Amino acid sequence: MQLPNYNEARKRNNDKVEKEFYELDSSIVNIGLNKKYHVKTYGCQMNEHDSENIKAMLEQLGFTEELDYEKADLIILNTCSIRENAHNKAFGMLGRLKHLKEDNKNLIIGLCGCMAQEEKVVEDLMKKYKYVNFVFGTHNMHRLPYVLNESIKTGKQYVEVFSKEGNITEGIPVKRENKYKAFVNIMYGCDKFCTYCIVPYTRGKQRSRDKNDIIKEVKDLVKKGYQEVTLLGQNVNAYGKDLNNNYDMANLLEDVAKTGIPRVRFMTSHPWDFTDNMIDVIKKYDNIMPSIHLPVQSGSTKVLKLMGRRYTKDDYIELFDKLKTIPNVTISTDIIVGFPSEDEDDFEETIKLVNYCKFDNAYTFIFSPREGTPAARLEDKTSIKEKEERLYKLNEIVNKYFLESNQKLIGKVVDVLVDGPSEKEGMLCGYTDTNKLINFVGNSDSIGKIVKVEVTDAKTWSLDGKEK
Ligand code: SAH
Ligand code: SF4
Ligand code: F3S
Repeated sequence: MQLPNYNEARKRNNDKVEKEFYELDSSIVNIGLNKKYHVKTYGCQMNEHDSENIKAMLEQLGFTEELDYEKADLIILNTCSIRENAHNKAFGMLGRLKHLKEDNKNLIIGLCGCMAQEEKVVEDLMKKYKYVNFVFGTHNMHRLPYVLNESIKTGKQYVEVFSKEGNITEGIPVKRENKYKAFVNIMYGCDKFCTYCIVPYTRGKQRSRDKNDIIKEVKDLVKKGYQEVTLLGQNVNAYGKDLNNNYDMANLLEDVAKTGIPRVRFMTSHPWDFTDNMIDVIKKYDNIMPSIHLPVQSGSTKVLKLMGRRYTKDDYIELFDKLKTIPNVTISTDIIVGFPSEDEDDFEETIKLVNYCKFDNAYTFIFSPREGTPAARLEDKTSIKEKEERLYKLNEIVNKYFLESNQKLIGKVVDVLVDGPSEKEGMLCGYTDTNKLINFVGNSDSIGKIVKVEVTDAKTWSLDGKEK
């Protein structure tokens, strides 16, 4: 048993991060034969990609995937801690699984992901959720086969969570969900410690992957016919800072673009590390998509300071204006309302910023105190009702701009990577270069290709069109 510890998780050190290779002991490769697994994923793209690794490891053990969790022999919840409702969803699911297990004593239940890194969650799992067979964390995902084997062997709950990040494990197998679009991790962890955020505790210190491993992965994807990669990290612009080898995100973006993959995306960008060189590279390469996610969090410099974001409202606007010089660019953002001490004036500052930036897309949240983070200890006088009203007002305004941004495209021809059939009967769907969802009338032979589509109508969250 190894349990998470926040004091350890908070620490940062200069220890060199080594590269390790995933290996599987041949004695456990058959433990999943004739058994079915189901993985349920919560949270961000990083978790989605981790689940692609988890699934591939399970398939090496002989398991096959079952999409209906009620029919599975093994269920793993890959969880997220970012806000209270992410917690609630996972615990709600555990409640349902308890009933399932009452009918099927052989059901094996595992929990991993960011919640597994939380002391309090693991304490609860060990006291009140004994029916969860095993728990492993984000730093030892590659240990899944051993953790699972241990819990099967002993028949007891087995918890193995490392509080400190370890080395970077290369060579973990991956079962990609999509045949044309792939996630590629470029870095793990985060050292920004924004005061509201739990990620630096659940994902550990920033560790960049070796550029050669990244480029090799992208080249392999090109060979397999992939059309798009999304470079993933909590703070991708800081790529390479921990390696001290004069190779940064601008260099990496350029090298990834040079592989010839038709589309390159990257997320998430923290405004602090966005360099002019990066902007130049984005302008230079047609295959780097002109769509940037640049979370602002608040339009009030006072609140930004309390959030530990390290930029002012004016710094953000200056960067925003520079990014707008990228032809055709769309910019999306994240905004938190109701941060402790945010008053009506601060909120108005956020509205003013939104009215200036007219974001093409925005994810808006009410502040959710996360245990162990500095912001959770700040005095907070604003009632939840007021916070909900702010969120509602903000959403009305951001939605208006999404619609306007979409309406500008009516009559234009856009490049679309076709995902497959749309939820709308008889139509296809895909994403434009600027990352807008489009449903359109087209030829099913176009699935997996980048085609020209004429935009015929615009809604708040999607476009309609027909293939040219
Ligand atoms: N690394 C990314 C963000 C990852 S979390 C970045 O720095 O931009 C995604 C979003 O969740 C954040 O941008 C923030 O808007 C929101 N978020 C994070 N912690 C939160 C909290 N405690 N309460 C509400 N929203 C939060
Ligand atoms: Fe969280 Fe800030 Fe790191 Fe983003 S940059 S993951 S918001 S601490
Ligand atoms: Fe959630 Fe962890 Fe991602 S907290 S948002 S799954 S990094």
